Amino acid sequence: MSKVICITSGKGGVGKSTSACALAGSLAMSGKKTVLVECDIGTPNLHVLLGCENRVIYSITDLAVEPIEGEKELLSSQALIKVTSSDKSNYDNNLYLLAGSKQIRRDKLTQKELYKVIEKLKNDGFDFIILDSPAGIDDSAHAAMYWADMAIFVVNPEMSSITDADKAIAVIDSSSYRAENPSYGDAVTKHLLVTRYDQQASEIGDQLTCDEIQSILRIDSLLGVIPEANKHLRDASQRGLPVVASSLVNHAVGQQYIDAAQRLLGNNIPLRSNKVSFFQKIFKK
Ligand SMILES: Nc1ncnc2c1ncn2[C@@H]1O[C@H](COP(=O)(O)OP(=O)(O)OP(=O)(O)O)[C@@H](O)[C@H]1O
Ligand SMILES: [Mg+2]
Repeated sequence: MSKVICITSGKGGVGKSTSACALAGSLAMSGKKTVLVECDIGTPNLHVLLGCENRVIYSITDLAVEPIEGEKELLSSQALIKVTSSDKSNYDNNLYLLAGSKQIRRDKLTQKELYKVIEKLKNDGFDFIILDSPAGIDDSAHAAMYWADMAIFVVNPEMSSITDADKAIAVIDSSSYRAENPSYGDAVTKHLLVTRYDQQASEIGDQLTCDEIQSILRIDSLLGVIPEANKHLRDASQRGLPVVASSLVNHAVGQQYIDAAQRLLGNNIPLRSNKVSFFQKIFKK
């Protein structure tokens, strides 16, 4: 059975797309057939982050629309891009992308359209369907939250990110399909992913700690804590690779995402420290 995971946050620019690519890559590396679905119609990024700019022919919008009379319906196999990394990473056989359009689009993704897309992907036998939500809580963001079996709330350790995540949590709790149809099954499973975390700053009280964030948001499951790593992330996006790619994974960020994906799979992996050593500081790793 396919599992639909929504990566959301409320606030923009906190690391949703970065995390979606890294988690999807890790799940694919673990042998799970995984598809990343671009739900940000206006400003899609996943095709850039995964180095697939030149391979986008059809987009999620083409797959979502009803065919005009007499026209053939687009098959998901025509729109799906098989992600292949430039460094032959071992997610290559299991990772697919349903990209956003490269045209300028100002429309939104509706719940009905996304339902149609998800059903097609379920028929394709994906283990994981990962919806990368745009910022905010309405329109396309709400459509992505609506169909989720599981939601990953990406937050930065700052109050504006926490208050926006709190709103996204309220939306999932009140107006997701599972919230509206309790007879369907369990409520949406909620996980927290803290990104851009500076452990030292938290220890000296300059930044919220993960415990504080968890208690404000009332989410028990801490999926992972991703350190601040500006340069590494910039390199990864310039090379069109997720941070779990083989040539990048030898860095705390990639390791933390691999651990987080294992926790998603139900494995009991203890949290590792994000403390930066004296030498790492000197060499600005
Ligand atoms: N752990 C991190 N350390 C430093 N920079 C990061 C980290 N994670 C993400 N970033 C950077 O933050 C910026 C925003 O990341 P990303 O696009 O993943 O966020 P987003 O939540 O998807 O944004 P949007 O809401 O616009 O879709 C990017 O420049 C990315 O490289
Ligand atoms: Mg994004």
